[in-house]
Formats: sequence, structure tokens, C-alpha cells
Amino acid sequence: MSLQAIKYDGKDLLILDQLKLPYVEEYVPVRNAQEGWHVIKEMRVRGAPAIAIVAILSLAVELRSLLLYNRLSNSAEEVGVFIKEKLQYLVTSRPTAVNLADAARKFERIVDEHIREETATGQTLAELFLREAGKMLASDLKDNQNIGAHGAKWILEHARRPGQDKINVLTHCNTGSLATSGYGTALGVIRSLHSNGALSRAYCTETRPYNQGARLTAFELVHDKIPATLITDSMAAALLADPKASISAIIVGADRVAANGDTANKIGTYGLAVLAKHHGVKFLVAAPRTTIDRGTKSGEDIVIEQRPAVEVTKIRGPVDSGISNGLSMETIRVAAPGIDVWNPAFDVTPASLIDGIITEVGVVEKGPDGIFHFDDIFAGASS
Ligand code: MRU
Repeated sequence: MSLQAIKYDGKDLLILDQLKLPYVEEYVPVRNAQEGWHVIKEMRVRGAPAIAIVAILSLAVELRSLLLYNRLSNSAEEVGVFIKEKLQYLVTSRPTAVNLADAARKFERIVDEHIREETATGQTLAELFLREAGKMLASDLKDNQNIGAHGAKWILEHARRPGQDKINVLTHCNTGSLATSGYGTALGVIRSLHSNGALSRAYCTETRPYNQGARLTAFELVHDKIPATLITDSMAAALLADPKASISAIIVGADRVAANGDTANKIGTYGLAVLAKHHGVKFLVAAPRTTIDRGTKSGEDIVIEQRPAVEVTKIRGPVDSGISNGLSMETIRVAAPGIDVWNPAFDVTPASLIDGIITEVGVVEKGPDGIFHFDDIFAGASS
């Protein structure tokens, strides 16, 4: 059974508390938009698609309970204002991943369209919101499975070295079931390679300073029995230079892809793309179309979230190893007291260093002009 970061049955929303992973698997309830905002801000749930889904579902469970206790206005306009205010509030939780803002825009449109209907009431609007929120969860899972299939096919056709049966790949950060509704984006591609019998080994970086790779990706790879090796971020160059490792591709996720293909993803991604170019290794971004922000011209326009210094200067972990309920967590300092710290959560990889952007409808490569064109993959799409 693959990991499930988000559990939603149409009534209750539970999220796997990622601050406690990989030591303790504990689900926490999210009962309203305010709790949704907090679990996103505190990084109890993380990863671009997952935070968008949790934000929308947190508002869905709040609306459901207002409906249940008859505490919603009959006026569709009033409920519409309520929903839009909550959506705007949820968007303020984290700035870089576009999926959250994109989902908020989509639900605002749904609200506006419904309000225009003569028969609309506060109740019909809330019910519609609940139905659409449920669909979002299912459609993200399907998208990830398609990303996995397209990405695995592309890699085997374009990145496999002559005479190679199985391939080795490198990934960064956290892009699996824990960062999405399930299956994953970059990790979905790795999962798909593995289930096709085409994966020899996945290397994952530790992903300092917050260690999403060591804590979450490594946990998921072990959980799902995918052959994998953990490296520190500083080992990536040596790994790519090592003929024994023979890395065929680097696959990462994305928090926002600008209209020109520049991609914001977890800090350290840009460095890996530079290394890939130097070593002639394919560099791929795996992301649903909801991560492609055609309203943002280039990487220069992407707001990069700055995180607190303490994430760099201190490390938190259990005193005991292994999983136990009475786990005692300790925080220890790993940097000199008083040192200044720069801690951007993401960086931007220029499009020129990216070989392909793997989406649920196919892999986008640069055109003969050397530029990514996304019009084809959005043709016929509603957003
Ligand atoms: O700060 P986080 O943990 O939310 O960052 C997560 C990432 O950067 C992921 O690589 C990204 O969201 C990929 S989307 C599956």
C-alpha cells in the first residue's frame, strides 16, 4: 500500500504530519481553512500539489460543517464572498508554489459562475464547492500516474545509454505520494520506471537544509521497496562523475514553471541542472499543468520564499532511533552562534538547462527556436 499524505472521505480531512516523519506516522485532523493555513505554513503538509489540495479541502470540510449545522447564509452572494475571502487567506500561507494560487483562482471562477445562476443559493454553492473539491483529489492522482508513464517512456527512449538494460537516476527534494494526492510527480516517474523493471537504482539527495529528501523521499522509497541510495547534496557532482553510478537522468519536481520554462523548485535544483549539463546527463522537470504559470513571464518574476535561519543553524531529530510512540525529539545546533544566514527555500533553474518538462499530457521539449512552447498542452484545457 502506497503512502497517503491526505485522507479525505467527503466528510473529514486528515493529513499525515510530515514534521514527525520519518519517525512517527501520525495523522492530524484539519477542520477548517484556518487549520488548513497553519498545516501548510508549518510544513506539516508540503509539496506544491499537496498544499493546493489541502487548502481547498480544508475549506470544503468547513463548508460541510456549516451546511450540516445550518449555519450558512441562504444568499449565494454572501457565501461567495465568504469562500473567496477564505481562498485569498489560504493563498497567503506559502508564496512560491503556483498550484495553490491556481486552485484558488479556479474555485473563484466556479463561485462566480454559480452565483450568476438564478436558482443559486448559499447551500447549492457550498454543495458545488464540495463536489469540485472531491474531484480535484482524484484528478491529481490520475495526472501523476500519467506523468509517471510519459516520463518513464521518454527517459527510456532518450536517456538510456547504449547497451544499458536498467538505468540509474538522481532526484532531489520530495515529489512522491507525500507531496501530492498520491503516486507523485518526479517520484512518480521513478515509480513507473521501477514497475516497468527498467530502474536499477534511484539516488536521492538529502536536500538541505530541511532534509525533505532524507526524511520524506528516502522514507517513501524504503516504504515502497524501490532500490535507492541517499547522498548528501554535496556528493551530486562526484556521483555524476562516477562511471559506476552511470546516472542517465536527473528528475525533479517543480513549484512553479514560468511561461518561458524557467522553473522554481527546491533549493539545490539549479546546481543539479548545471552539473547535468556539464556531465551530458538529461535534466527533466516533472509537474502537472497546474504548476505551469503562463502568467509569469520568466524566473525573474517568481517570488522565492525566504525561510527562518534556524532551519540552517539547527537540526531536529529523535534521540532514539526507530519508530516508537514515546519518541523524544531533540534540537541541536550545527552552526556557529551569531553567524548570519541566507535561507531561500527555492531556486530558479533557467529553461536553457532543462531538457524536458514532463506533464500529464506528454513531455514538452524545446522547439527548434530553443524555447519551450506550452500552447499545445493547454489547447482545449479549461484553465
Ligand atoms: O518546501 P516544500 O517542502 O514544500 O518544497 C517541496 C518541493 O520543492 C518539491 O520539490 C516540489 O513541491 C515538487 S512538487 C511535487
